[in-house]
Amino acid sequence: MDFAAWMATVQARTETALGRLLPPATQAPQRLHAAMRYAVLGGGKRIRPLLCHAAGEIFNASPAALDIPACAAELIHAYSLVHDDLPCMDDDVLRRGKPACHIEYDEATALLAGDALQTLAFETLAEHGGSARMIAQLALAAGSRGMAGGQAIDLAAVGQSPCVEELEFMHIHKTGALIRAAILLGAEAGSADDRALFQLSHFAGRIGLLFQVVDDILDAEMSTATLGKTAGKDAARNKPTYVTLLGLAEARRKAAELRDEAKAALIPLGNAARRLTELTDYIVDRKF
Ligand code: IPE
Ligand code: IPE
Ligand code: MG
Ligand code: MG
Ligand code: MG
Repeated sequence: MDFAAWMATVQARTETALGRLLPPATQAPQRLHAAMRYAVLGGGKRIRPLLCHAAGEIFNASPAALDIPACAAELIHAYSLVHDDLPCMDDDVLRRGKPACHIEYDEATALLAGDALQTLAFETLAEHGGSARMIAQLALAAGSRGMAGGQAIDLAAVGQSPCVEELEFMHIHKTGALIRAAILLGAEAGSADDRALFQLSHFAGRIGLLFQVVDDILDAEMSTATLGKTAGKDAARNKPTYVTLLGLAEARRKAAELRDEAKAALIPLGNAARRLTELTDYIVDRKF
């Protein structure tokens, strides 16, 4: 199977699995369930599920087993986007080419939809055979020492000029932690031992940072129509990014360096890791 076909297959099965895991919109409270489904279904690149499946395949995890951590990571991600767009955070009105959740519904519903998506992620892992270690790993990645902490740093950094190390610390937490967890949970759903997890964890760290560097470049370079979310938002809101701190050329150089480092980290894993190599290129070369 070529990469495009593999990607479409994983995206389609992720959509089906998410649709089954989410409560039906006909179940009370209907408006909350409808908002949750609105925020999760019918959009998004599903990068975290793709990384989870690609990592799990290396260790012979079955696609059905991988749907569980893949969906858990995507549910956390979807919740983070709903909250990220709220007026008290990035105050964005467009997400995945549609009105943001709080625009389509209302702020309180969006807040609750995010809360409920987060708990659904853990319910999913706990009810479908996720180990206590996997649940703890996802919790750590999503919490104050991971994504939520990174978001706090992001908000505190508005109007500031952090040094590159501080910027990297923020990116590694707000975006890198969940991406890293999606990869490691996929590997753990298969037969990965501690040595393999250690090798993979270096790749996971690099790709997590790389993902946000590219997000920052796209914010500066692309149109709102292409992105499906408001372009130029980081500069408009005085957010420090690689682009705003160092300029586009330096940000692109950083992305190229991270791409090389990420791919080099996969070499010890051999040909079985080729989907991760292909995903690395996809993440850098994507247009949205
Ligand atoms: C956007 O993530 C938010 C960040 C963490 C940078 P994605 O680019 O993965 O968003 P979707 O899921 O494809 O919409
Ligand atoms: C979002 O980063 C990170 C999380 C949601 C955790 P951004 O604020 O850059 O994401 P976009 O650009 O709005 O998608
Ligand atoms: Mg943000
Ligand atoms: Mg944002
Ligand atoms: Mg962004």
